Amino acid sequence: MTKTEFKKGFLWGGAVAAHQLEGAWQEGGKGVSVADVMTAGANKVPREITDGVIPGKNYPNHSAIDFYHHYKEDIKLFAEMGFKCFRTSIAWTRIFPNGDDETPNEAGLKFYDDLFDECLKYGIEPVVTLSHFEMPFNLVKKYNGFGNRKTIDFFVKFAVTCFKRYKDKVKYWMTFNEIDNQSSFNNDFLMATNSGLLLDKDGNKNEAAMYQAAHYEVVASALAVKEGKKINPDFMIGTMIAFTPIYPATSKPADVLLAQRMDQRRNWFSDVQVWGYYPSNVEAYIERKGYRPDITEEDRVVLKEGTVDYVGFSYYQSMAVSSDKVAPDDLADPEEAIVRNQFVEASDWDWEIDPVGLRYALNELTDRYHVPLFIVENGLGAYDKVEADGIHDDYRIDYLRRHLTEAKKAVVLDGVDLMGYTPWGCIDLVSAGTGQMSKRYGFIYVDKDDEGNGTLERSRKDSFYWYQKVIKSNGADL
Ligand code: BG6
Repeated sequence: MTKTEFKKGFLWGGAVAAHQLEGAWQEGGKGVSVADVMTAGANKVPREITDGVIPGKNYPNHSAIDFYHHYKEDIKLFAEMGFKCFRTSIAWTRIFPNGDDETPNEAGLKFYDDLFDECLKYGIEPVVTLSHFEMPFNLVKKYNGFGNRKTIDFFVKFAVTCFKRYKDKVKYWMTFNEIDNQSSFNNDFLMATNSGLLLDKDGNKNEAAMYQAAHYEVVASALAVKEGKKINPDFMIGTMIAFTPIYPATSKPADVLLAQRMDQRRNWFSDVQVWGYYPSNVEAYIERKGYRPDITEEDRVVLKEGTVDYVGFSYYQSMAVSSDKVAPDDLADPEEAIVRNQFVEASDWDWEIDPVGLRYALNELTDRYHVPLFIVENGLGAYDKVEADGIHDDYRIDYLRRHLTEAKKAVVLDGVDLMGYTPWGCIDLVSAGTGQMSKRYGFIYVDKDDEGNGTLERSRKDSFYWYQKVIKSNGADL
């Protein structure tokens, strides 16, 4: 039988993260997270990570789009679009405000009970990321985040608390959002959001610190998977990576080899999580560099026992690399090898737009891992214009249509096992990278600007109706 469409029960939906939309940063007993100490940046201007909350600075995540109080209205709109699932995260600091608390915060647990019940009321399946750039700031300050083995226990306690509480409401989980981002170990934002490492702190500003923290994270993830399966054997627990195809800038052998090296440097995180062991290239690299991460034999057993069920990934762009910038054997920080790919366009934020790269990604991940895949983020951050008769975001429709067309080819022509598709920021929210509201991804517009002004009123963009039609036809009508 020839496949012509996405599978039955395909998880159509949208994705968000707690810190980027909930707001209410001090309500219901919530503690301060890493995201709460990030100021607003701008297009190509990074956010500042402050030492605690400094009065007078603009912290956009504090109020975000106030989903905490608007979630019923928003989920109703998701249901109107026909969502089958909704990907969000559980703000760690609503459950354990300081991260190292003895007991969880009941008000926080109750909030997610209500939120998941509201989704289920419409037949929308919650898909939950446990840690999406929201580590308790106390863990960062007191323990150096995942630079400390103790943080494994704090995370596992948080995960187990959530698994037990929501075991009958949530089936699909992911442990860490875009765990591979930290391969860019010189980037303040990525290190703080992934591992809770602050690069201005002594000893953190190096690759060795990243390998150590990331090791503790993959162990924490594996322990969570093991515990989760005991709590509910039907759980599907995945990794989540920012998958970025790496293209050699030319067919020059050194470029091809460099692309492969860079791929290894970015993808070992999910290799470990899916395979249950470190790929030999990373073992060799760590050894060659003289890094001595604390990796015990017991850890290696845990990694084997706690492998994931599926690979969730975000897809925004591909990258090209050139050996004119760095020789393959000298590659350390992947960022130093990247060059502009002249064959693809770019967004207003300079993110390269490459729909074919999504088909490539789906095939690459299938060949590498042989597990089901879930596109849990994809989308175009764009400036929207509110006109008298609505928001006509045909550029967003065009972007999503082109990507879904390629995803469909991967399913129909290439036999990829794709579980679902949850485009990023299905409702406008605070950008993670820049802190802007004006970098919008949503099908639903939220009236709020970069300075925090606006009524918070929600309205449907043209893409809302387009996506509704896509879901209704199970992707046949793009
Ligand atoms: C992913 C993150 O990296 O990309 C999201 O998982 C983020 O949290 C999304 O919002 C888009 O990035 P940005 O910087 O445009 O918000």
